[in-house]
Amino acid sequence: MRSLDDFAAQKLDALERASLRRKLAETARLDGLWVVRNGRRLLSFCCNDYLNLSHHPAIKEAAIAALSRYGVGAGASRLVTGNHPLYAELERRLARIKGTEATCVFGSGYLANAGIIPALIGPRDLIVIDELSHACLWAGAQLSRATVLTFRHCDVAHAQDLLEQQRQRHERALLVTDGVFSMDGDLAPLPALAALAERLDTWLMVDDAHGLGVVGGGGGSGFARGGRLDIPLQMGTLSKAIGAYGGYLCASSAVIDLICNRARSLIYSTGLPPAMVAAAIAALDLIARDPAYAALPLAKARAFTQHLGLAPAASPIVPVVVGEADAALQASALLEAEGFLVTAIRPPTVPAGTARLRFTFTAAHPDHDIERLADVVRRRILLG
Ligand SMILES: Cc1ncc(COP(=O)(O)O)c(C=O)c1O
Repeated sequence: MRSLDDFAAQKLDALERASLRRKLAETARLDGLWVVRNGRRLLSFCCNDYLNLSHHPAIKEAAIAALSRYGVGAGASRLVTGNHPLYAELERRLARIKGTEATCVFGSGYLANAGIIPALIGPRDLIVIDELSHACLWAGAQLSRATVLTFRHCDVAHAQDLLEQQRQRHERALLVTDGVFSMDGDLAPLPALAALAERLDTWLMVDDAHGLGVVGGGGGSGFARGGRLDIPLQMGTLSKAIGAYGGYLCASSAVIDLICNRARSLIYSTGLPPAMVAAAIAALDLIARDPAYAALPLAKARAFTQHLGLAPAASPIVPVVVGEADAALQASALLEAEGFLVTAIRPPTVPAGTARLRFTFTAAHPDHDIERLADVVRRRILLG
């Protein structure tokens, strides 16, 4: 339709002029480390497959066995016939790792956040959220139609001010944050946020997509300062260090029961393919058996920050902020010419003026490649 195509073309032109147009680049991931793009082999420093488990032989075998036994797709929502026998095992294991009574696995992390928040919080309620929280937490917050107030990044005093001013005016309140911030790699001040939430009768929800498997001895950001923090709503994804796909919420049995009854993205969406659930179970097995391996991505990220004289990495994610979107695209192209794949991260994924290279480190990255990468970044991007 003409007007529709004109609309799309105008929008795309505006994005192009601002260096914000995105393109899907065909990328074949070969082994969780190397990729082929535009016919070239590149060493990827931008996958969230922190433990390289997406290509692990034992995990692939588990997925293939499940596929052979239970078929390719789940066939229906979990509440109809899609709740195949592998779910219970995965949910038991996640609850054990997170120290909660129960877990509910969703189709993805995005679906989890889009379903959990509106199932618990409504128009008369309050959400107080870190400004750098992931887009799908914002999506869930918007779907809830609650009053949403933003606190400055990791600023507990600001969160406290907002809650103290507003808590009484709302029936229920939710305090929301990433555990490991996806584009910055820093950790939320969870002990202080948990104490604040407890004091002001507010439910703390932590999205630990980038924590599970690689932070806090594998348990995630709730374990990063030693011991286990009491966080009532622990959300995460199986698509990053676990190497598979799917999202989850770990919480009390009552909350999980309610989520199964109320979360629309669970009720009205097909269950995960059995192979994904089997892969996630096998990945959790491996992580539990080899904590030293799970510690490697953080150690590799720290080697990188040390080479560059940056503050020590708190997670396997290290941002190098370059400012404007076109500068980030140029820096990414420069690294690609040197054989490294590091995608430019631009607004609206990050705030305007903070476009960046987001480096992610995995257990299998060779030390000499990290050194070479750091050397190129120092010479060509930081000093260049
Ligand atoms: C912090 C955070 N939460 C949630 C998600 C969404 O998870 P998924 O990719 O499983 O939809 C992501 C990843 O994109 C993320 O970085």
